[in-house]
Amino acid sequence: MPPRPPSEVHEKTPTVLFPSSTAAAQALAQEVKTLMEENTRTGRPTVLGLATGSTPVPFYRELIRLHREEKLSFQNVVTFNLDEYYGLPADHPESYARFMREQLFDHIDIPAENINIPSGTIPSDQVFAHCKAYEDKIHAVGGIDLQILGIGRTGHIGFNEPGSSRDSLTRRITLDRVTRQDAASDFRGEQNVPHFAITMGVGTILRARQLVLMAWGENKAAITARAIEGAVSEAVSASFLQDHPNARFFIDTGASRELTRIKLPWLVGPASWTPAETRRAVVWQALKTSRPVLKLIDEDYNEHGLSDLLSEQGPGYQLNIRIFNRLQHTITGWPGGKPDADDTFRPERAKPYPKRCLILSPEPQDAIVGMGGTLDRLIEQGHDVRLIALTSGSLRVPDSEADKFASTLAELGSAVVTPAEWKEQTQYANTILRILDEKGEFGEDPPALRQLKALILRGELRDAAHTLGLTSDRVHLLDLPFYEKGRYRRFHSTPDDLAALVSLLAQHKPHQIYCTGDAADPSSVAGITFRLLETALRQSEGEDWAATCSLWSYRGKEKPLEAHEIDMAVPLSPLQLERKTRSLARYNSLSTLELSIADQNRQHAKDYDALGLAEYEAIEAFQRRSRP
Ligand code: F6R
Repeated sequence: MPPRPPSEVHEKTPTVLFPSSTAAAQALAQEVKTLMEENTRTGRPTVLGLATGSTPVPFYRELIRLHREEKLSFQNVVTFNLDEYYGLPADHPESYARFMREQLFDHIDIPAENINIPSGTIPSDQVFAHCKAYEDKIHAVGGIDLQILGIGRTGHIGFNEPGSSRDSLTRRITLDRVTRQDAASDFRGEQNVPHFAITMGVGTILRARQLVLMAWGENKAAITARAIEGAVSEAVSASFLQDHPNARFFIDTGASRELTRIKLPWLVGPASWTPAETRRAVVWQALKTSRPVLKLIDEDYNEHGLSDLLSEQGPGYQLNIRIFNRLQHTITGWPGGKPDADDTFRPERAKPYPKRCLILSPEPQDAIVGMGGTLDRLIEQGHDVRLIALTSGSLRVPDSEADKFASTLAELGSAVVTPAEWKEQTQYANTILRILDEKGEFGEDPPALRQLKALILRGELRDAAHTLGLTSDRVHLLDLPFYEKGRYRRFHSTPDDLAALVSLLAQHKPHQIYCTGDAADPSSVAGITFRLLETALRQSEGEDWAATCSLWSYRGKEKPLEAHEIDMAVPLSPLQLERKTRSLARYNSLSTLELSIADQNRQHAKDYDALGLAEYEAIEAFQRRSRP
């Protein structure tokens, strides 16, 4: 391999950065194609190790395209999947066997006998023999040529949770709590996620001749950097790739955010001191030394590798003042702009007042999580606020909620009215109860059940919005079709989704749009809706309203913004934070990440305080995506 540039000195496993997951997937698929063609020429099969989850989906789509459009044949390919949930039959909607069929195997010409996936239903007393046979089979075909990997937030590869040893082989393991939380939406609640899985071991994986680990989105940034730059340790299985002679990480911009060359570039080479980079360096230094910005001295700059920043933009005190002022100007209690005030240094312009504010929530709870306090302020300050739930969120609602609703309805029938008067309602309730009964714990939700779950979430959303003073006529439901027709980790957006967004924008002609998902995994609901919004805005470019519309992004369950990235900081009083928390309590099924949002809001306030700015209870943070 060619020597790597000094900026990558901290990266112990070679890492390739791509502008998007699509670009990375295309590059990898080309490599696989070349490998397959070479092997076919020499009369060898190509043995691929495959992963599931959302990460490899764009790669599989590209392989399918190569098969369809460039006649790439998989007749000569043998595959071994990394893992399977223990307890799930192969036709279960969330089994990895079914995932692989739907995402790849049904669309290419691979012979069925060449596909290998651990069994999720092997009886307990045969698990050991099954795992051994899996290892033997990999060995018998000559080992894996190329193993594809994703990474879990625990740093797992396959399902090798923290504590898995370097030499571990295929075996049954217990899933980590974090992994089960991450799978909760797939299974409509953490309680439904299997506790066990069968997985190839770290040792099995490392025996592959070549490894490529892919990671997308900011939520993977911290663990990816730890695996690439941190110590090799059983605490992070993916760190073992550092010991492999031919392993690489393929990551997108979001997942690269915590690498030293991106996060602290001045430590590994000459930095280009753009305003954003300068802000990052000064804020980093202040937080690291626990010194407010205005108290940083030239020695601090020198000791932290920032002497060239000082010589370019110093003296230190002037630089401190510049950055302090810039941070100070991000703070505003007037997210819609302060009417009749000088707005030269305010994040949002004063006019027009009031503004038409469109608050886009990918799933119904996202906007309240990410900007409940700001929403409260916008309403209080007289703006024309609309909250748009882009999808119904029905897939998040556990069966128990539908059961509770249908049982109450059925009982109401006999309690308050005569059975004849209540006939249709009782019939409806019984249909739902029957569906729940028949489909069992893991079955797919038929449309009637999805509809009821959507209604339940709708009720929660209206209720949560009321707590913030938003009346029902200002809460809109777009029910984008990609969500209604899809399932988590395998959504496909369509022209209908885009058309719905374009017409929403044309109808409301917003002065301000708030959205989330810019830093999310592109296959997540927030990631998909953000990309749809970008396209919709591009299509609306000629419209009058578009020229005067500002676009702000908030973070919900994604990695929070760091202090230097914030363009607008909206302080929340203790009372407002309490009101936000109360409105979130209206939701019955929030993830742990969503529930910890108040802590994130408090952390922003602590950081601002530590930088020497005013001390607030909590802050909601926004990044400017575009300005008029
Ligand atoms: C799946 C697997 C796991 C996933 C990881 C990331 O076969 O082995 O290690 O790669 O959990 O999952 P996603 O891609 O859904 O974020």
